[in-house]
Amino acid sequence: MTGDSGQVIETTGLTKHYGQVHALTDLDIEVGDGVTGLVGANGAGKSTLIKILLGLLEPTSGGARVLGHDIATEGQEIRRLVGYMPEHDCLPPDVSASEFVVHMARMSGLGASAARERSADVLRHVGLDEERYRPMGGYSTGMKQRAKLAQALVHDPRLVFLDEPTNGLDPAARTDMLGLVRRIGSDFGIAVLVTSHLLGELEQVSDHVVVLDAGHLLRSSATGDFLEQTGSLLVEVVGGTTERDRFGEALAAAGLTCRPRGTAIAVEPAPPGVSVHDLVRDTAADLGLGLMRLQPDRRHLEDVFHDDVPLGDPIPGGGPRG
Ligand SMILES: Nc1ncnc2c1ncn2[C@@H]1O[C@H](COP(=O)(O)OP(=O)(O)O)[C@@H](O)[C@H]1O
Ligand SMILES: [Mg+2]
Repeated sequence: MTGDSGQVIETTGLTKHYGQVHALTDLDIEVGDGVTGLVGANGAGKSTLIKILLGLLEPTSGGARVLGHDIATEGQEIRRLVGYMPEHDCLPPDVSASEFVVHMARMSGLGASAARERSADVLRHVGLDEERYRPMGGYSTGMKQRAKLAQALVHDPRLVFLDEPTNGLDPAARTDMLGLVRRIGSDFGIAVLVTSHLLGELEQVSDHVVVLDAGHLLRSSATGDFLEQTGSLLVEVVGGTTERDRFGEALAAAGLTCRPRGTAIAVEPAPPGVSVHDLVRDTAADLGLGLMRLQPDRRHLEDVFHDDVPLGDPIPGGGPRG
């Protein structure tokens, strides 16, 4: 299914200049099945890469294959096999999601009744129920994102490109959208390339993460490798800096490596057999401090870019307790 190399996407020396702007520089990327997160700050080249892979934009040099097809000569075949959720709003305001998705299904070659059936299925799947009969101009951002996702899925693609699907969504809608993205990969076996400028949110749904920095490939690795680096916990107690510092010192005294991070304390993974969660909970209880937050330390992109920058000295501790 995935071409000679078994890769879903493969680029070699892919380069794109817009006049003086070097949007992509000499990219060698390999993407396999499952969900791949494409992360990079605004302007990193994510949307440009997607448009080139769809055969909608020509590279300046280098090439790429998508599902084994050459972008230079087989754009049409690629667009038949690939679904695309564009970054920007592209929905006609006077048309309902139902009409729109049926239209897109017909455009990709489905017959009238198959198009209606498929459309109803995917609209239900993305969570647009009764709203699907209303004109899209009145939709919330979350509903528009769902309609855009539905049209990307309606022709039963092998691979989908989702360009910033969580853009403009509030935290709850963001979580819902990320859940949908995960299920597209896991329940339907469709390969997914999803972009975001936040590494933290893609970590939750991606098997593999590719990081672009100003058009250069910065990293490409399994998500677990990122999580290993970011496997620390952020903990926060009720109060101000004084409480934070008391808590940090006590955690350090209990043998944990930790550092102040804003209003919180970042606690590094403990040696096997030691439960960070238990120590954090017991320490807060011992000090009579209210535990306000305990969550995986989700770092933003900038932190990945600045891995070489020292984190600051750990809080000195008194060695393991006991
Ligand atoms: N049509 C265009 N003409 C000129 N420059 C462009 C065009 N599209 C994108 N760029 C530039 O190329 C770079 C990459 O843009 P883009 O691919 O949109 O990044 P991202 O999607 O990661 O935000 C940016 O510097 C952007 O300003
Ligand atoms: Mg973009």
